[in-house]
Amino acid sequence: MKIISGPASKTLAEEVSAQTGFSNVSVVSKVFPDGESYVRLEGNVQGENVAIVQTTCPPMQDGKLFQLAFLADSAKRAGARKVTAVVPYLAYARQDKMFLSGEGISVETIARMLKASGIDEFLTVNVHSETTLAQFPFPAKTLSAIPLIADYFIKKGFKGAFALSPDKGAMYIAKQAQTVLGGDVGHLNKTRDRYTGQTVQTAEGLNVKGQTVIILDDIISTGGTIVGAAKILREQGAKHIFCGCVHGLLIGDAEKRILDAGVEEIVGTDSVPGNVSKVSLAPLISQELKAQK
Ligand code: R5P
Repeated sequence: MKIISGPASKTLAEEVSAQTGFSNVSVVSKVFPDGESYVRLEGNVQGENVAIVQTTCPPMQDGKLFQLAFLADSAKRAGARKVTAVVPYLAYARQDKMFLSGEGISVETIARMLKASGIDEFLTVNVHSETTLAQFPFPAKTLSAIPLIADYFIKKGFKGAFALSPDKGAMYIAKQAQTVLGGDVGHLNKTRDRYTGQTVQTAEGLNVKGQTVIILDDIISTGGTIVGAAKILREQGAKHIFCGCVHGLLIGDAEKRILDAGVEEIVGTDSVPGNVSKVSLAPLISQELKAQK
C-alpha cells in the first residue's frame, strides 16, 4: 500500500506513512486564479493499493472534497488498483436525513460523487451518525478517536473524571470515554429548532457536585452546545470542566466563548488541524490500514 498525502492532511498522512512503513506519495496542489483546484501525484502508484488521507473540514470543505475526488481520479488513471479514501472529518455528515421537506441528503450526494471519482473504499473517524455509512455506494467504516482523547486526559492526571455527553445522541461517546477514565457517566438533554438552529439544554438527575467533568462530543462547531453544557455544570457545582471533541471546527470565536464559559481546556484531534488538535489520529488510522493492506 502507498499513502497519498492529501493537501488538507499532509502532516497526518506523513505520520501515517511513518507509523505503517507504507511509502508516501506527495501531491502538488494549487488554486488557479479563478478559484479552481489543481492536484498532481508525484509518485508511481501503478498496480498499488493506495490510501488518500484528506480531511474535509472548514475552511473550504467543498474545495477539499474536490481535491479528494481529483486525487482519486488521478490515482486510478495512473493505474492504482484500489483507492481507499481516509477522510478524518467528513463534511456534510450532519445533513444525513431530510429534516425539512424540500431538502436533500447532502452526505449521500457527496458519497456518490466520490464513488464516481474512483474511490473504492472509505474510512472516516467518528462520523456524526454511523447509519449514514450504510447508504454509501462503497464499503465504509468509521473509527473512534474517543479512547485516544480519554487517554490524553488520563496522562494529565484525570483518572476517575466524570464523562458527560451534552446530549443523549452522543452518550455512546461518553461511555467509550468512561471505559478509559473509569469514573461516572451521564448526559444532558438537548433539543434543536430546525429552522433557527437554536438549542435548549437541560439536566435531569445529574450529580456532578465537586467533580472533574469532561464534556465529550463528536463535533464542536459554533461552540453553543459546549457553552450551554458548561453553564449547567457550573450551576450544578462541578469543580473542574474540560472538553474533548474529535472534530474541533471552532467556528468564529467558539474557542474563546468556550474558555470564557469556564472550560479549562479544549482537546481535539488533527482531523481539524489547529489550536486544539492535541491528539493525533495517526495511530488509529495506521492500525486500521495495516490490518487492511
Ligand atoms: C450535534 O448533534 C453534534 O453532536 C454537536 O453537538 C454539534 O454539532 C455541536 O454544534 P455547536 O458547537 O454549534 O453547538
